[in-house]
Amino acid sequence: KKPKITVIGSINMDLVTSTEIFPEKGETVRGTTFETQPGGKGANQAVAAARLGADVQMIGCVGDDAFGEELLTVLQKEKINVDSVSTIPETSSGLANIILTEKDNRIIFISGANEHVTPAFVSTHKEQILDSEIVVIQFEIPKETIEYCLAMCSENNIPVIVNPAPAMQLSDEAWEKATYITPNESERAQLFGDEYEEKMMITKGEAGVEFIEAGIKTNIPGHQVEVLDTTGAGDTFNGALAAQLAQGSSLREALTFANAAAALSVQKLGAQSGMPTAEEVDQFLKKG
Ligand code: RIB
Ligand code: NA
Repeated sequence: KKPKITVIGSINMDLVTSTEIFPEKGETVRGTTFETQPGGKGANQAVAAARLGADVQMIGCVGDDAFGEELLTVLQKEKINVDSVSTIPETSSGLANIILTEKDNRIIFISGANEHVTPAFVSTHKEQILDSEIVVIQFEIPKETIEYCLAMCSENNIPVIVNPAPAMQLSDEAWEKATYITPNESERAQLFGDEYEEKMMITKGEAGVEFIEAGIKTNIPGHQVEVLDTTGAGDTFNGALAAQLAQGSSLREALTFANAAAALSVQKLGAQSGMPTAEEVDQFLKKG
């Protein structure tokens, strides 16, 4: 039986503009390409886990617009259970305005329907949540919902991966209830300063992942790949980590696998387009 994962989080349409030159104040520049691509940290993590063979259910909201319909179809094509995704009337779907240059990406996120992922909404799906091997959450949904999910899962001994992106501070009590916390370096600095806890796993892009093993800080090195678009690399990591832990891998195994999955994902434009299958990750790891 496939391990069951629940992702509670955002579903966005990404409006991706690529440009060689980033405009200065008051300046107009000619861009290179424009594409709409399915995204949202929640949906991305769900897709990453599903491609790797997990049985994924998504809890979230889209708007009653064309993007919402398309986003639902994309999730269904990935064999993700969307019974717990609601379409909110008279509301726009979440959007991410992404400007991609050769060196980096800049994202403006508009939450739209994702604001409707409230504690009350999530509570109507409590039974399915508690039927999961592992739960994954990120920070594009309301803070009270995140804290509510953490309380619910810890009360019922369901492990939760908390990906604190974009960075937002939670109560000490809420952080304590997280099983794993997976910030990138800037999120870690913003949220925890110099504090380092056993359950933190820091994603460092090309430098790999840092974590604590048997009380000692250790590092899984990154992979040298050609980078086309790093959007969604962190999401690939989190989805893969969830899929691996749910199927019983050790933490080191799971992190090694997730680190490789993330490296593969940056080779295609769009958050979800480069996300690998389990076979692709295994092959990549064999090559070394
Ligand atoms: O993590 C990448 C995602 O964050 C994008 O898909 C975009 O939707 C943004 O919110
Ligand atoms: Na990609």
